[in-house]
This record gives sequence, structure tokens and C-alpha cells, in this order.
Amino acid sequence: MARYGILTSGGDCPGLNAVIRGAVLQGNMVHDQEFVGFRDGYKGLVYGDIKLLTRSAVRGISSRGGTILGTSRFGPYSEPDGGPDAIKNVLEELEVDGVVAIGGDGTMAAANRLLGDGIPMVGVPKTIDNDLEATDYTFGFSTAVEIATESADRLRTTGDSHMRCMVLELMGRHAGWIAMYAGIASGAHAILIPEAPESLDQICQWVESVKDRRRAPLIVVAEGFTLPDMTDAFSDRGLDEFNRPRLGGIGEILAPLIEERTGITTRATVLGHIQRGGVPTGFDRVLGTRFGQAISDVLADGDWGKMVALRGTAIERVPFADAVGHTKNVPLDFYRGARALFG
Ligand code: F6P
Repeated sequence: MARYGILTSGGDCPGLNAVIRGAVLQGNMVHDQEFVGFRDGYKGLVYGDIKLLTRSAVRGISSRGGTILGTSRFGPYSEPDGGPDAIKNVLEELEVDGVVAIGGDGTMAAANRLLGDGIPMVGVPKTIDNDLEATDYTFGFSTAVEIATESADRLRTTGDSHMRCMVLELMGRHAGWIAMYAGIASGAHAILIPEAPESLDQICQWVESVKDRRRAPLIVVAEGFTLPDMTDAFSDRGLDEFNRPRLGGIGEILAPLIEERTGITTRATVLGHIQRGGVPTGFDRVLGTRFGQAISDVLADGDWGKMVALRGTAIERVPFADAVGHTKNVPLDFYRGARALFG
């Protein structure tokens, strides 16, 4: 019976447990495979810290948030104890024939490097940000969008009651997918994402036009958005770049600037890790399960160096190299379409 290891690495993500369950059940029932889990990402792989993944260990876990294996941002090459020789010894000792790395861009880059150093690796893409190039969607994104949309809806009722401008800051360091989906779903009056620069003047115009219609403005902003005129906006207020970090994230930076320019009381909410916690949506459970089953098939074929990906409605296999180092940005025509409805 072939034996494989699974690890979850990087930020956690709703749907991780569905992947683990899908792989273990498909492996046990279809391919005569058994599994162990490496605890806390690559750390468990380097130090041989495992948890047995029997059928009973994965029973009922798809509906649980987080990861039953634990995760970390530990890099397999970053510690003196790490590297391919240490990992080869661990795999030999534990009689593990190959490793499934579930993670984002950094995890796949590490898996690709390990593959080059002779470790049999395969991958499953994961990020709530949905910004991995090689796959149309990642699990975790749908859950994040649901939580963000509900939060925006809630901000709208309190904003409407007080006639305040509400600014909601969402996750998305490099790409604004969560902000786009939650912003469109909640009918936000402006959506601000890293891919599309908007000036403070433009944002305030949108806010004022909403106020003129006696509505309370709702602005959704991705954490990676920056104002092109940020430096001007700060020097106008007697602040410089040095003072910026003390003001918090972009939502907290924007709120006082909007209030000052428009005279409308403005409040910022930073949703943060709430977007990553709790039970996954049905969509994320199904996508995670399909990825898990598909990766068991990849292992059965010994198709090393492949990551599973959703293309349209099909699960395909792509080389690690296709998934590493490119951010999947929000297309500008998608943004322009949404922008037509702002204000
Ligand atoms: O990559 C997913 C993500 O949720 C980003 O959107 C966010 O910036 C980051 O992780 C937060 O990471 P951490 O949990 O390490 O603070």
C-alpha cells in the first residue's frame, strides 16, 4: 500500500479540511493509498511531526473551519535543520512515498524547489484572496465573500440610520477579488482595489453624490489599495509618510480624509481575520473535496510536480511553474463595469 503525506501551509482557509477528507477517502477507497498529515505546514515535514489520517480521523471534518493539521509560514529551506536532505530522511523513516502541499503562492514555490531537489511533491491551491493565476477559483474565497457581504449589509443599516459614510476594509494584499465580489453584492457606492488607482477627489465625489441623494455612502476597500495622491493627502494634513503607519490600514487612513473633505461623519471597519474563520460555504466544501479527490488521482499516477486547478467547471492538472510568481489580478474591464455603478 502506498503511503503519502499531506501538509497545509500559509494562512488558513475555509475548505482545507474538505481537501484532506477528499484525498483520504478517495485514496483509501479507490487507490489503496494511506495518508499521514504533517503538522503545522513544512515544519512537520522537516521535523517528522505527523498525525495519522485514517478514515475515522477525517469523518465529518469538511464542515469545520481552519485545518485539523495546523499551519504555519515556516519555509522548508529557512531553518538550518531544513532542506531536502533532512526531508528525504524523514520520508524514508516514515515510509512516505510523496507529499501533497496545500497552500498559496509561497507554498507552491517551496514545493517546486523541493521537487527540483528530488522530493516527490504535488500541490493543491489555497487562498481566500483568489489571486492564484493557474486556477479560476480557490476554495475559501466564497466563504470570505459571504462574510464580507454580510458585514457590508450590516454596515449599511447602521450607516443609513446615522447618515454616516461607512468604510469597510477587506483582505486582499495584491488583488481585490474579495472587495469586488462583496462590494458588488452589497451595492457599495465605491470599490477600491490595488489594481485600479482612484484619487481622493474621485472617492469624495462619489461620497458626496450619495449624500446629495440623502443616502449613506458605503465604501469597500481592499487592504492593498493605495491612493495615488497619498503623499499629497498627508502633507495637506501636516503629516508625512513617517506618520502613516500609526494611522493603521487603508480603511483607517481613508476615513478621516473623507470626513475632512466632505464634512460627512465617516467610520472605518477592518474586517481582518473574521474573513478566514468559521465554517466554509457549500461551494468551498465541494471545491475542496474535488481538489482532494483529484490530488489522490495525481498521486496514483505518480504525476509529480503537478497542482490541481479549477478551469471552468473541470479539475485539471497544471505544472507548479504555472502557479508560481504571478498574481491573478481583477481584470480592468470587470472593474470598469462595476465602476459605472459607483456614486
Ligand atoms: O493571503 C491571505 C491573507 O488572508 C491576506 O489577504 C492577508 O493580507 C494575509 O493573509 C494575512 O496574513 P496573516 O494571517 O499572516 O496576518
